[in-house]
Amino acid sequence: MRVLSGIQPTGRFHWGNYFGAIRQYIDLQSADAAYYFIANLHALTTVRDAAALKQYTLDAAIDLLALGLDPNQAVLFVQSDVPEVSELMWLLLTGAPMGLLERCVAYKEKKEKGLPAAAGLFTYPVLMAADILAYDADTVPVGQDQIQHIEVCRDLAGSFNHLFGETFVLPKGKVLDDSAKVPGTDGEKMSKSYNNTLEVFEDPKQQRKKIMRITTDSRPMEEPKQPDTDPLYQLFSLVATDAERAEMAALYLRGGFGYGEVKKALADAAERFFGPARARRADLAADEPRIREILADGAARARRQASDVLRRAKAACGLQ
Ligand code: TYM
Repeated sequence: MRVLSGIQPTGRFHWGNYFGAIRQYIDLQSADAAYYFIANLHALTTVRDAAALKQYTLDAAIDLLALGLDPNQAVLFVQSDVPEVSELMWLLLTGAPMGLLERCVAYKEKKEKGLPAAAGLFTYPVLMAADILAYDADTVPVGQDQIQHIEVCRDLAGSFNHLFGETFVLPKGKVLDDSAKVPGTDGEKMSKSYNNTLEVFEDPKQQRKKIMRITTDSRPMEEPKQPDTDPLYQLFSLVATDAERAEMAALYLRGGFGYGEVKKALADAAERFFGPARARRADLAADEPRIREILADGAARARRQASDVLRRAKAACGLQ
């Protein structure tokens, strides 16, 4: 199995990123090959502030390492350090049907939210396809919202292969479990653009305040409630132990409790869950040269693979 995934440095990681993606990266890092990158070229479509983008990129590397990504097992690098991918994107763009990209939900959503409709935003899935194909990845762990983009990648790779002969490996999107769509503090999908996130390394006091403000329904305390469809319970179950989860589910079904109690339990469980990573993060952040060294080494390893694939693709379509 050859695994690849990318994550954008658009701010600090939230629980959706962790439970929907990062946790899977770590579970899969001992595969035959595992490539994980910080998608700063994708982030440039929304982060238009140079200093912020630089800082978010460094923070992303520190966060991933603190959360358990092991650079001795996986290749960790920054997307823009592998220019071969941008060149490969052009090869794919020449055959990318407008209609296919127009159907992409992420683009439509961002446009509706008022982001300027730049060509980079529109062609974003083609860059993502190049990312995946450049490493011959067959498995791409992502949250539910990215599955459509992996379908686009399969389409583009399939038609290139059809026209120019077998060149690319067709990947599969991998949504590992039911945390593929983590709810935010308003019950909608957790997303930075919806302003409903709980960050992984947020100040615990700040996070507790946010948790206490989570939207809940106004049913009376006595009434029994279904745990599985309640976003608050869903969040709790991500950070709770098995025993805590079972106890809370029983409490929901019995009724006679207040959401305030659940929120407090959620804040406590979150602090325990991310505590060890928080301590590791503090150590890593104190050694920036080491982080830069890891990223430089990752980029060199990634480039070796990507340049092989690029050479293959250029030869196939008559550029070499
Ligand atoms: P990005 O940076 O938006 O998100 C990173 C990962 O987090 C997942 N995710 C969620 N999962 C569950 N519930 C949520 N609420 C939630 N919010 C985010 C996303 O599904 C994603 O897996 N285009 C990609 C980055 C990328 C990429 C790639 C991914 C660029 N090139 C190649 C895979 C392969 C993105 O914007 O992810």
